[in-house]
Amino acid sequence: MTNEGPPSPPRNVVFNINETSLFLEWSPPSDTGGRKDLTYNVLCKRCGADPQECELCGGDLRFIPRPQGLVNASVTVLDFTAHANYTFEIESLNGVSEMSSFPRPVTAITISTDQGGPSLVGVVRKDWASQNSIALSWQEPEQPILPVLDYEIKYYEKEHEQLSYSSTRAKAPSVIITGLKPSTRYIFQVRARTSTGYSSYSPKFEYETGDETSDMAADQGQVLVIVTAAVGGFTLLVILTLFFLITGRCQWYIKAKMKSDEKRRTHYQNGHIPFPGIKTYIDPDTYEDPTQAVHEFAKEIDPSRIRIERVIGAGEFGEVCSGRLRTPGKKEIPVAIKTLKGGYVERQRRDFLREASIMGQFDHPNIIRLEGVVTKSRPVMIVVEYMENGSLDSFLRKHDGHFTVIQLVGMLRGIASGMKYLSDMGYVHRDLAARNILVNSNLVCKVSDFGLSRVLEDDPEAAYTTSGGKIPIRWTAPEAIAYRKFSSASDAWSYGIVMWEVMSYGERPYWEMSNQDVILSIEEGYRLPAPMGCPVALHQLMLHCWQKERGHRPKFTDIVSFLDKLIRNPSSLLTLVEDIQGLPESPGDVPEYPLFISVGDWLDSIKMSQYKNNFMAAGFTTLDSISTMSIEDVRRIGVTLIGHQRRIVSSIQTLRLQLLHVQEKGFHV
Ligand code: ADE
Repeated sequence: MTNEGPPSPPRNVVFNINETSLFLEWSPPSDTGGRKDLTYNVLCKRCGADPQECELCGGDLRFIPRPQGLVNASVTVLDFTAHANYTFEIESLNGVSEMSSFPRPVTAITISTDQGGPSLVGVVRKDWASQNSIALSWQEPEQPILPVLDYEIKYYEKEHEQLSYSSTRAKAPSVIITGLKPSTRYIFQVRARTSTGYSSYSPKFEYETGDETSDMAADQGQVLVIVTAAVGGFTLLVILTLFFLITGRCQWYIKAKMKSDEKRRTHYQNGHIPFPGIKTYIDPDTYEDPTQAVHEFAKEIDPSRIRIERVIGAGEFGEVCSGRLRTPGKKEIPVAIKTLKGGYVERQRRDFLREASIMGQFDHPNIIRLEGVVTKSRPVMIVVEYMENGSLDSFLRKHDGHFTVIQLVGMLRGIASGMKYLSDMGYVHRDLAARNILVNSNLVCKVSDFGLSRVLEDDPEAAYTTSGGKIPIRWTAPEAIAYRKFSSASDAWSYGIVMWEVMSYGERPYWEMSNQDVILSIEEGYRLPAPMGCPVALHQLMLHCWQKERGHRPKFTDIVSFLDKLIRNPSSLLTLVEDIQGLPESPGDVPEYPLFISVGDWLDSIKMSQYKNNFMAAGFTTLDSISTMSIEDVRRIGVTLIGHQRRIVSSIQTLRLQLLHVQEKGFHV
């Protein structure tokens, strides 16, 4: 067949473009070269003003079905950049094209993607990053012509840009991307989807996951604090001096100056450096005379203004009562009254009043408000606002399953906001737990129980550690247990536990495990699984709070803004952990069960041994078989109480994933 030859180029190239895709179509060549094996190659170039200066398009572009060896005279191009010019060269080929000389004739078309929709997404912000996750958020488009249905988030490792990318969707303008590699730079782009298709992608944003040593503080602008502290030490001294002179705290200042360096260090707890203009917590122990501290921060109340009505509880120092407080010219208000029982020694009086000296320095809607003290007559009293629903742990247990997720998140948001206020003031709580949160009739949660060492003496959960301190082990960060390194970061760990308590309606963290087992499990990297019905986003946040490296935990300001976003976009709370939790990927991923060896042990440990026969009768006789059970299975074998179902399912998740191994495996949910 001597008349065979390469085909002529394609003809009549036309295109159709929308926000998301570019469709190219052409007519077959007028001369097929006398053969039937016609195919096409499409090459993309981006050219500047000078057509000689073209470069090949990057790997971002996708061709459907492929760019080369096309049998049909059309191709779809995806993932192009908005506001760019692309030149497509289309070449016809047949079985003898290889033998023809270069350059082979092509048909070219230049297309401007300005015709695609504008990018509805601007700046994509990193909210926080851990070793394996990055939380991103962006502004919702202002007044979009069509409502945004959802967003697509495309991401890939910067190093491997050409290879592949992953994508995920989010209904809300925020997302947590999990399963990332530590210390790796990723590129993120977001685009919005409306009923007519996708907008263009946002510009590319590059963020890095954390490593063992990286400190989130650096990302959050805390570098500024450190630099300010170092460079502006002198300025700070001048400002502080002015501050104390102006606020009349000279006496304290003179006394504090005479105290030892050690004392001065405790004044700014854990190295907290105050900003001028931001109120800072003052440790009442820096006063030689504690009575003076009380009177500086708390109003003395005439006992005739107080009407005690009934006893509502018992504290370490005496009874807690409810009652009423009259203030001339004001409406009578309900109050709680803590009393100091008779026969006390001076140290007890000082410890009792320390709480008032601390509380009196705070003014925030999520911190219990001090009304005043009675110190000049007996009994000595501390009067605080009354919280109708009492402490959060018992309140939740009483109302198991009664609240919507949004209500629970609202409570958590309040607690985080109170904690942000405390940490901004340089106050470290050390005993943040649901039992120390009070709830009012509007479900507003307020942080209470202040008083440092005294708090821990008083707390039935506090246990002595080998270093001699008394610590509520289940709520406390490992560094605080090990070497008493209490900080706002250790409070953030406790906050994660409070989140878990709230989402499980007052379940005891780590159930009946001993304190020693809790310490060992945490040390090995295990973490509490998500409570039943817990949105993935909330469990992710808990895990973030439980990072071993305290510098990697979120700051309270991050927690508040993250919860705000969830509340503003309730659809972000719809994915529950059990919706996405599958079995481990391979049998090798199922570690042995270190804590329990039999079904009986396991049920004992979660105080559910009454169901042992139910499990056995239904054939769930091994921990392996139990680890595959669904909530329906649990109901089917006769666990009817919702609280019991929740406890068992939570613990099955623990069995299944061997509690989450955060350190080694990242955030698996
Ligand atoms: N128990 C302890 N403090 C309380 C308060 N402020 N209101 C109600 N109950 C309480």
